[in-house]
Amino acid sequence: MVQTFDPKHSIICPEGVFIIGTYDENGVPNAMNAAWGIQSDYGQITLYLDEHKTTENLKKTNAFTVAFGTVDTLVISDYFGIESGFNVNKIEKAGCHVHPSTVVNAPIIEEYPVTLECSVFDYNDDTGILVGNIESMVADERVLTDGKVDYDKLKPIIFDCSTNTYRLIGPVVGKAFNDGKTIQ
Ligand SMILES: Cc1cc2nc3c(=O)[nH]c(=O)nc-3n(C[C@H](O)[C@H](O)[C@H](O)COP(=O)(O)O)c2cc1C
Repeated sequence: MVQTFDPKHSIICPEGVFIIGTYDENGVPNAMNAAWGIQSDYGQITLYLDEHKTTENLKKTNAFTVAFGTVDTLVISDYFGIESGFNVNKIEKAGCHVHPSTVVNAPIIEEYPVTLECSVFDYNDDTGILVGNIESMVADERVLTDGKVDYDKLKPIIFDCSTNTYRLIGPVVGKAFNDGKTIQ
């Protein structure tokens, strides 16, 4: 027996917890939480952004950062999604520390261990679709194993939109481009 859901109650599984960092025209940093995003090519990320302070900022600077929400940053990550930079300096209020990316005009939020540094390739006002080129990535050594980001150390979280909860990403259960070979 299957149940049918209307589109508003459908899910995309998994959805990320992407923290979009931007500067405004005065160099004031801001961060927002975005779930609707995905890798769209090697070195490219696509996100859906409504009209937010973040959107206003990145249209002016042509740059943004994307950090990944983690168990340790869950509370500030949620805060960045329920308050607007139009009303308050969220970075200060959350007690975060930032420094400028060396490759794009956007802030790195130091509380997040892994951050993509992106330039705006395209933002479409009609669709809200933002395509960014990933110019570089910075990662704290404490979440690396053999030079690679180690999910067990990073503890990234995902957003479950059907229950409005954040969930931990689980253990390794298979090998990509490999396990399917058993039925090839
Ligand atoms: C879990 C979660 C996911 C969200 N995902 C998105 C998203 O993908 N796109 C979007 O436009 N807003 C999304 N939001 C809403 C923005 O984060 C929110 O409106 C925020 O206040 C915008 O901040 P800003 O005005 O400082 O840029 C999300 C909020 C939460 C809590």
